[in-house]
Amino acid sequence: MKIYRAENYEDMSRKAASIISAQVILKPDCVLGLATGSTPVGAYQQLAAWCREGDLDFSQVKTVNLDEYKGLSPENPQSYRFFMNQNLFSHINISMENTHVPDGLEADSQKACQAYNEIISSMGAIDLQLLGIGHDGHIGFNEPGPAFEQETHCVTLTPLTIEANKRFFEKAGDVPRQAYTMGIKTIMHARKILLVVSGQDKAEILKKAIQGPITPEVPASILQLHQDMTLVADEAALSLFTE
Ligand code: GLP
Repeated sequence: MKIYRAENYEDMSRKAASIISAQVILKPDCVLGLATGSTPVGAYQQLAAWCREGDLDFSQVKTVNLDEYKGLSPENPQSYRFFMNQNLFSHINISMENTHVPDGLEADSQKACQAYNEIISSMGAIDLQLLGIGHDGHIGFNEPGPAFEQETHCVTLTPLTIEANKRFFEKAGDVPRQAYTMGIKTIMHARKILLVVSGQDKAEILKKAIQGPITPEVPASILQLHQDMTLVADEAALSLFTE
């Protein structure tokens, strides 16, 4: 595992954006696995700036996002499709038909998950999967549990995740209780993984995930087994790390 220590959030974002841009430059028709949450926003802004300046070309890039709330439409400002359009896709020269997010409006979970699995396999391997981490160690919406779930599945969000994500909604009661998420096997099949982590509030879970035992109770701990895994984290997030 490569670990890049960033001074702060801005530095982490620039370093992460550099790694993603290197991927796009080396393979202009690459498949990027993308993530939502506050952590990648700075990296997305940097990528958009480089694209605006003509230094980065997304015209052949395909993307597949990790997850989506079940029940939210793409027009709902809290949906992850809306988030991606707002924070990245509308600022870069990507073809919208090359961008993929699970269909939150498909009420039949089995249908929604199967359709998303088919989209992912039709793309071949994910070249670079960007990840954030939840306070309970979730990646995508793979919550702690008795086993690592393999492919796209419907999850019931834990109270901790609902609590953490309520900041984007008017009240906790508005946070959807379920979501569709890419599974652990699909994430682990990505050629490269880039985990971005910022802030003191993530220090404890980051230490558990990277330096603790590998267990489905800390879903991100499986990343220790990936062959090409890069962690970019700021000083605060790495503050409990032992070298
Ligand atoms: C959500 C997303 C995750 C993300 C996590 C952390 O639950 N499903 O993909 O990593 O939040 O978000 P943040 O970066 O805002 O802490």
